[in-house]
Amino acid sequence: MAESAFLRAARGLRPSHPPVWFMRQAGRSLPEYLAVREGIGMLDSCRRADLITEITLQPVRRYGVDAAIFYSDIVLPLKAVGVDLDIKPGVGPVVASPVRTLADVAAIPDLTAEHVPYVTAAVRDLVGELAGINGGTPLIGFAGAPFTVASYLVEGGPSKEHALTKALMYAAPEVWEALMHKIAGISAAFLEVQVAAGASAVQLFDSWAGALTPADYARYAQPYSAQVLARVGALGVPRIHFGVNSGFLLAQMGEAGADVVGVDWRTPLAHAIGQVGGRVVQGNLDPSLVFASTEMMLARAGEILEAGRAAAGHIFNLGHGVIPSTDPDRLARLTDFVQGYPLAD
Ligand code: CP3
Repeated sequence: MAESAFLRAARGLRPSHPPVWFMRQAGRSLPEYLAVREGIGMLDSCRRADLITEITLQPVRRYGVDAAIFYSDIVLPLKAVGVDLDIKPGVGPVVASPVRTLADVAAIPDLTAEHVPYVTAAVRDLVGELAGINGGTPLIGFAGAPFTVASYLVEGGPSKEHALTKALMYAAPEVWEALMHKIAGISAAFLEVQVAAGASAVQLFDSWAGALTPADYARYAQPYSAQVLARVGALGVPRIHFGVNSGFLLAQMGEAGADVVGVDWRTPLAHAIGQVGGRVVQGNLDPSLVFASTEMMLARAGEILEAGRAAAGHIFNLGHGVIPSTDPDRLARLTDFVQGYPLAD
């Protein structure tokens, strides 16, 4: 397992071949996912070890990708500690009573392993199963970064401007600080549970950090992501940190404590490599290139692989999640292309 192409690249070592996995590789693009999810709510499926295990393995079986990512959601730990929320199909996470006050924050319990027994059980099952796939396929655990999770808690649902979130951040800094500290503890604990049960790497998603200026990111978001990444750093597994629309924050996201910086598809990889201070990069094909001709899709993937050679290490991925209407055969073709691509001399 330590020899897996993904883990070697994540540590800045030369892998046997260019490693590849896809954000949201499990999910609605797969007919086998739609079949097992039939009649079962998203968050219900995330609380059944048998379904977590099956859904996490589906894209590994189909594509032979170099890593599995644990099937869950960034809001699952909140649900597990008792926050009243749901994931509405086609919408995203919706919170019944948005958080606005210190009392609201204080009412959210801290997360312990006892809140998520199905996570521990599923990770253990998965690690056993994955050991026998393609000579050992590592499992990536994940959590949401405090800013991105706070956005759902404060807005009450998905938002474009994050206006209520920023209003709280600017106008009630003591509430903001308490909320971010609370979420940092929950996200770190969620990652610790996954690593303790056998996950070999983690990814911290700060999907909406790109909504902040560099100065506001430094003041209101980065310290709390750094708390999470520092706690996981003590466990010795590689830490990937990713945000959407975050090309101007890559240096700061790396400095928050990442070993690998995930790059959104809008940022040229060569530019990103110049920003991340010798860190490994992950990314960053535009997920809509699966709708182009094979020739064009692979040519763009080849450009990214060439650019990646200038980095301390490169893990190929899309520059955001798989679009649900993606034909899985396109991702199978892309996987084969990346894994067969020559390494630099
Ligand atoms: O394969 C994987 O990548 C692992 C599974 C995974 C899910 N959510 C499952 C999921 C991961 C890593 C996430 C993280 C997540 N969840 C993020 C960060 C990554 C990113 O996209 O930037 C965010 C912002 C969320 C919140 C969330 N959950 C959204 C915005 C949505 C989409 C809503 C919709 O229906 O369009 C979800 C739901 C969700 N999470 C689905 C899956 C497979 C689809 C729901 C379904 O199948 O019913």
